[in-house]
Amino acid sequence: MSSSVLIASNRGPVSFTLSEDGGLTMRRGGGGLVSGLSDVVRDTDVLWVCAALSDGDRGAVRQAPGGRLDEAFDTGPIRMLDIPPAVFHRAYNAVANSTLWFVNHLLYNTPFSPEFGTRFAREWESYRTYNGAFALALAEEATARARVMVQDYHLTLTPAMLRVERPDLRIAHFSHTPWAPPEYFALLPEDVAAEVLSGILGADHAGFLTARWARAFMDCCAALLGARVDHADRTVTWAGRITRIGVHPLGVDGEALRARAAEPDVESHMAAIRDHVGDRRLIVRIDRTELSKNIVRGLRAYQAFLAGHPEWHGRVVHLAFAYPSRHDLPEYREYTAAVQRCAQEIEDEYATEDWDPLILNVNDDYPRSLAAYRLADVLLVNPVRDGMNLVAKEGPILSPRCALVLSREAGAAAELGADSLLVNPFDVTATAAALHEALTLPEEERLKRGLRLREAATALPPRRWFDDQIAALR
Ligand code: G6P
Repeated sequence: MSSSVLIASNRGPVSFTLSEDGGLTMRRGGGGLVSGLSDVVRDTDVLWVCAALSDGDRGAVRQAPGGRLDEAFDTGPIRMLDIPPAVFHRAYNAVANSTLWFVNHLLYNTPFSPEFGTRFAREWESYRTYNGAFALALAEEATARARVMVQDYHLTLTPAMLRVERPDLRIAHFSHTPWAPPEYFALLPEDVAAEVLSGILGADHAGFLTARWARAFMDCCAALLGARVDHADRTVTWAGRITRIGVHPLGVDGEALRARAAEPDVESHMAAIRDHVGDRRLIVRIDRTELSKNIVRGLRAYQAFLAGHPEWHGRVVHLAFAYPSRHDLPEYREYTAAVQRCAQEIEDEYATEDWDPLILNVNDDYPRSLAAYRLADVLLVNPVRDGMNLVAKEGPILSPRCALVLSREAGAAAELGADSLLVNPFDVTATAAALHEALTLPEEERLKRGLRLREAATALPPRRWFDDQIAALR
């Protein structure tokens, strides 16, 4: 079987867990990329090529002829790549998540300092192998002149590799993360930085979530590769080819989200939360437990708000969802522990017999987080840096009367900034002040802003986001 439109990403739309009796349970994949794309490709014949991430996934692949899950399970067309676990671990954990993610989110500071030595050389080789496995599978599955949409920092080398195999294909790459400015990107070894940039430039079209990230990428191409960059036309010329740079600010399918959030499981979670918090005001945050999401400073800001405003004691509850992510990395395990310590401190300092100032949820519970969105008076989204941040868009869709406290460093600030309370994510005192301002914003003003936020959040739903990029490949 072969396809004329293909998507490639590390995480696919489904994942499998192996139960004790050897059976496989299927569930939807998580994160902004997958939730954005899953609805688009459902019921289409777009082939999704992704990696097997766990033993469950590897079990599923081995039952599927040629790794084509649609033939063995009831999924859309999916080909899952069974990459040797050690290679996968080095490519995904060491290079993609500990190096490229850290660079583009400006996360390198003590104690997370980079070191590029012989160990990194082996990890980089695995990243190449892993990118090559995707290029090979795509080359096998694509029809003549097919369009291929390669996603994110895991697969920066795939476009150039695929072009060598199949020069007839029309290739796009999309970055769901921010992009670092050249002076920061240059902390990568010179040859690695050049390979990443020229890997993406193997595509005909390189997409970003905001103009800011697109500009930073182009600046890196000029400064570190010596490529010819035209900011007005948004093109990069390198090695005799032109890559067009696109800005596609992914939004949310409001109708689908509202329909999901109206289902009975969400309603019963709403009732349970209401039972627990009564008529107190709710400050909500929903994140993966991710270093870039800045959860600890968010909790510190809430703590500072409580310290400065005793009149709110007993009248407000912070509902914080911080579900587990990337726990193979020690930095993430330490961060999760830091979040829990900080939450405990707030409990110890302020909880009384009939008031829980903070409820921290550390398990992934999608319907419960939808319930929280619907009940929120204030939504706190304070990443140190974020490609877009779809939480900032989902919140206003489900609760237009909710005030949004938003980091100026989230990509979403480009579209939502005017109607949110923008904060410097490092400034805990200013964030505390913004929480107070959000809670006291007059009802009418909140609704006015909320309706505008809702409109901006749905301006480019995934379907259109996808179609725009397909059109860019024509
Ligand atoms: C971000 C990335 C995605 C990734 C998601 C979840 O949104 O841009 O590519 O899938 O995080 O991270 P994970 O490592 O769990 O796939």
